[in-house]
Amino acid sequence: MEKMVSSWCNTLKSIPQDYVFPEDTRPGDQIVPILKNCPMIDLEKAVSGDRNDVIRQVLQASQDFGFFKVINHGVGEDLIKDTIGMVKEFFNMTNEDKASLYSLDSYKSCRMYTSSFKYDRESIHQWRDVLIHFCHPLDELVDTWPNNPFKYRDVVGKFSVEVRNLSLRILEMIREGLELKPGYFRDELTGVQLMTLNHYPPCPDPSLTLGIPKHSDRNIITILYQDNVCGFQVLKDGQWVGVEPFANAFVVNIGQQLKIISNGKLESVEHRVVTNSKEPRYTIASFIIPHGDTIIEPEKTLVEKDNCHPLYQPFQYKDFVRALEEEHLCEIDATHGSV
Ligand code: OGA
Ligand code: NI
Repeated sequence: MEKMVSSWCNTLKSIPQDYVFPEDTRPGDQIVPILKNCPMIDLEKAVSGDRNDVIRQVLQASQDFGFFKVINHGVGEDLIKDTIGMVKEFFNMTNEDKASLYSLDSYKSCRMYTSSFKYDRESIHQWRDVLIHFCHPLDELVDTWPNNPFKYRDVVGKFSVEVRNLSLRILEMIREGLELKPGYFRDELTGVQLMTLNHYPPCPDPSLTLGIPKHSDRNIITILYQDNVCGFQVLKDGQWVGVEPFANAFVVNIGQQLKIISNGKLESVEHRVVTNSKEPRYTIASFIIPHGDTIIEPEKTLVEKDNCHPLYQPFQYKDFVRALEEEHLCEIDATHGSV
């Protein structure tokens, strides 16, 4: 528990050596510009306007950027406010109140950790503390979640259901756009939902550290709420650019499995999290993940339609996750495939 960044960073004079990333991966002093033409999709228009046009925007952004922002997405503003409020309240409780959740056992369905799943095996640590739990099916899992703050299960439970519905609505648009058969994103591909609640405390020297190093999400699709503090950056045409928070918007990342299923048609954005010296940053990432034994492969109808070869061999999702871990592809956060 004393390893949590928030436990020791207040009394800090300089950055501990094991938090200093190598020169070629850390942010350094250069100023990172804001991504100007960031795709922002109004999902309300898929219901009340030209649905096909919205689907086109989703596919275009997924191809060109591998991510996009969504607004008017149907998740209530009050619910978002209450949920991020819960997250802040949780992380601001005393260590004593949180200690029972801290665990290095990655098989626990709800736990708190710091940096990454590999704390003991990594040479450089990430500047973040995390609460992680599975979310679906909610009634089987919610009892493993924190019951302090008192309303945590109730509020975050509602949020997780709405965010799951939003993920499935976006996948349905992608399915329509790619002309896949109805029901394509079945339980096998989407039945697991994991949420990480991230706390990035202020860092005295953001040029040396990272909240999360460069990675692309390895799951199907991710919905990120980044509140109102900057820190999320994407690699666009070889340059790091900042993705600014926008009130009540979510960032939607295309995951590596969706890239593979689409035979490379959709991109999976590479991104990272930088720290800042002024204020804490809190985010909520919700990952839609295949079951471990699901076979993932480029969808045959797409390969045939485009008259090309499959770019990837079929594999079981759990083998993909294991292979990444064994090869020590350290840049990819182990969090996202922990099933
Ligand atoms: C992640 C991630 C971004 C953030 O958890 O995979 O990229 O801003 N998070 O917390
Ligand atoms: Ni990510």
